[in-house]
Amino acid sequence: MIRMRPLLFLTFLITLVLIPAPALAAILGIDFGQSTTKAALVAPGVPFEIVLTRDSKRKDVSGVAFKGEERLYGSAAAGIAPRTPSAAFLHFKPLLGRSVSSSEAKTYLEQHHGIELIPSGNRSTVSFKTDDSSFPVEELLAMSISHIKALGEEMLPKSSATSRIYDVAITVPPYFDSVQRKAIIDAAEIAGVRVTALVPDGVATAINYASARSFGNEKQYHFVLDMGAGSTSATLVSFQEVQERGHRFGKSTLNITVEGVGFDQNLGGDLLDQRIYEILLARFIEAHGDGILSSPRALVRLHKEAERVKTILSANTEVKASVESLYDDIDFRTMVSRAEFEDAIQDVLPRVTKPFDDALQAANLDILDIQSVILMGGTTRVPIFQQVLIKDVLKGDASKLSKNVNADEAAVMGATFRGVSVSKQFKAKEINVLDPAIWEYDVVVSNSDGGIIGTQALFPKGSAGNRSLIELQLPENLEEATLEFREDGRPLFIYGLHSIQESKKKLLQSNNCTELIFVLDAELTVSRVFDVHGVSWQCNVTRPVVPAESDDSEAEDFKQKVFNYFKGEKSSPEGSTTETTAATEAPTDSESMTASSSTTSKRPQATLPPKPRLVKQPVKYTVSYSGSRNMGRATKASSTARLRAFDKLDSGRHARDAVRNDIESYSYRIREWIEHEHQRFIEHSNEEERQTFLRKAAGALEWLYDEGESMILDKLEEKMKELKEFEKTIFQREKEKLAIIEAELRASASAAAAEVSAEVDSAEELVIPDDEPEEEPVEDGTSTSATTTILISTVMPNTKTMSFEESSTAEAEPEKIEEPQHDEL
Ligand SMILES: *[C@@H]1O[C@H](CO)[C@@H](O)[C@H](O)[C@H]1NC(C)=O
Ligand SMILES: *[C@@H]1O[C@H](CO)[C@@H](O)[C@H](O)[C@H]1NC(C)=O
Ligand SMILES: *[C@@H]1O[C@H](CO)[C@@H](O)[C@H](O)[C@H]1NC(C)=O
Ligand SMILES: *[C@@H]1O[C@H](CO)[C@@H](O)[C@H](O)[C@H]1NC(C)=O
Ligand SMILES: *[C@@H]1O[C@H](CO)[C@@H](O)[C@H](O)[C@H]1NC(C)=O
Repeated sequence: MIRMRPLLFLTFLITLVLIPAPALAAILGIDFGQSTTKAALVAPGVPFEIVLTRDSKRKDVSGVAFKGEERLYGSAAAGIAPRTPSAAFLHFKPLLGRSVSSSEAKTYLEQHHGIELIPSGNRSTVSFKTDDSSFPVEELLAMSISHIKALGEEMLPKSSATSRIYDVAITVPPYFDSVQRKAIIDAAEIAGVRVTALVPDGVATAINYASARSFGNEKQYHFVLDMGAGSTSATLVSFQEVQERGHRFGKSTLNITVEGVGFDQNLGGDLLDQRIYEILLARFIEAHGDGILSSPRALVRLHKEAERVKTILSANTEVKASVESLYDDIDFRTMVSRAEFEDAIQDVLPRVTKPFDDALQAANLDILDIQSVILMGGTTRVPIFQQVLIKDVLKGDASKLSKNVNADEAAVMGATFRGVSVSKQFKAKEINVLDPAIWEYDVVVSNSDGGIIGTQALFPKGSAGNRSLIELQLPENLEEATLEFREDGRPLFIYGLHSIQESKKKLLQSNNCTELIFVLDAELTVSRVFDVHGVSWQCNVTRPVVPAESDDSEAEDFKQKVFNYFKGEKSSPEGSTTETTAATEAPTDSESMTASSSTTSKRPQATLPPKPRLVKQPVKYTVSYSGSRNMGRATKASSTARLRAFDKLDSGRHARDAVRNDIESYSYRIREWIEHEHQRFIEHSNEEERQTFLRKAAGALEWLYDEGESMILDKLEEKMKELKEFEKTIFQREKEKLAIIEAELRASASAAAAEVSAEVDSAEELVIPDDEPEEEPVEDGTSTSATTTILISTVMPNTKTMSFEESSTAEAEPEKIEEPQHDEL
């Protein structure tokens, strides 16, 4: 029951409401960390619970490894890293949306020996190279998500409506940019799930913190300090209970607002591990030379030891580091003291205060306004950091350090809770989360010579984000232009516009426009992914050009749709409503061009009200990227196909494993039958036969361990059949004997019947069932005819019946979300 305790608070906040079936589904929350990953599940009929790993752990190492074609996850993946470092892909989160030449990639290679990173196609992102293949980092994350999803689905009741997971909420560091965030969303899509929300780590923790407490009507300020393996962030949040209008007694909503965020992208546990690793490595080299540098395996093992030493140093002042046969048969042993460690990280300590300062400045607050600092993440346990926090951040006030959240699980619970409230499938405590953009999104407009014309803000810092039509000011008569879209001043992608005036003329030719504007359809999602869905000329037309002749209700309907769209009342992307009229110059080459359809008045209205009608003419563009680029539709499709292929191999392997297990247990069973002189076997076989089969069973086990590992399913099943031969023989003999007894009984029965007729009939039926099967019951290794089962279970009451069903791989997918995206050019 202990493990239930942290969940109780949230459990009572989330209650099911009975919404009609299709809307009700499971929501998986994933705290995707650099070093460890946790997940929690909310679903109808199951308690809000942490998703346990295969070995019942509440968290797992972040990573995937390959053993041949088999994939290993989490700690199993980490387990094979020292032996096959080039096939174990761990802690890859910082590489998402980053290029091979990035500082993240450089740091990664310093900390992960034996890994080779290559560019992922031409997207300027990272793939891991293996001997015969390569894996984009998104694909590896997709495998992890898919694995967690499968674990979560095992917790669900097997009824059809709710046995699958389609929606996830995933934590994200506050500093992740649009490309990094989109990479996570792409990975989820490849794994077959939809991201309802990316939840910043600090926000997730704040939600969890708030869900167990009540606050007054006064704003309260708290910091969430999240020091993980890779990075540190300080999120300044405010909590405030807001009385709802019309509910004088009680009913209130909790507002959680992110007031400011500060971070250090490279300050985390891994950096500390690295420092201890450097101490250990220097000592080894000093004593034994630098040959060790050429052995990735030795370096990986030394790194692992450094991690262990750091963890123990949080509680002890001195630790003995020790690695058996580290390199060249040398056993490495040395002492590391906390003082030495703290000395080695002196330069790191001042970095702790900066995130706090930045957040306070953004919020225009003082540290004295802050009620507490909520600690999250393993690295906050390092004693020297807590000392620095108290001394330099909290001005000596140790009472403000709040350690009473479950530092390990607060984020995953909070993220799941957020997923629940965003999806609106469950009734949850009313919590409004306001997490304004920490960056500005703007566009730099240049002419074809590269001369900058101007910069215009699209979504300012602090905006909540939405999808909106934003008017862009262009100089008269500009025929070509480039639009560079930026996030916090960093370029995301570039639109090259062509034939701007031509498009304008086209609109004017067929419409009596009074005022013409140039419009961007831009979006900043709740998860802080920026995208542009097209550029167009638009105008309001008060009167159709062509007199009405071919009007119908469809046109009226269409007009209404367009108008609604303009008023922002539609949810489907632009293309679907505007494509009704044929485009004169529809693009044929690439999806990256806008659908160049127009709403020009080829469907005039007879009964047009005097209301203005919006018409638009898309402007053609090409997209290019100066930095890392997300996967396009085609790349995602091929990654999805690849994942499916791996899944298929998995299920094939599981089938083989099942037969292997059966051969193994059956061999042992034969031995037991014979060695324990089970009556039925002794009765129907001779000593020589029994010895032969004992040898066969032993031989089968040997075969299994030597070659069985690589055998195809057919071969294994053949082996199983061979083994069953013995039992079959015994069965046959038993049956023959039974037939003799039966014949004898029949004879005596008919003799008796001659004297007393009535009673014997029923007795006869009892002894000789009429429906005994005629055919040989044991046909092959996989047969589970009733008779066989009875035989086996008479001998060993607890044996399983042998049946192998191929587990079918999941085909069901969430409905594809219509989402415009930039594809490969
Ligand atoms: C609470 O949050 C809601 C939704 O974000 C907002 O409309 C409201 O103004 C907030 N109330 C206060 C007092 O900040
Ligand atoms: C949507 O974003 C635009 C552009 O930043 C802004 O002007 C508008 O107020 C936003 N709308 C909402 C409802 O937040
Ligand atoms: C366009 O509108 C103007 C003023 O509203 C009107 O005078 C003119 O006749 C219209 N032209 C056409 C072709 O409808
Ligand atoms: C069209 O008219 C609406 C008001 O009806 C106005 O808000 C909008 O800006 C106009 N659009 C253009 C392109 O003139
Ligand atoms: C990038 O690669 C894709 C697929 O390999 C290819 O179709 C596309 O033309 C390339 N794009 C550029 C800009 O090189």
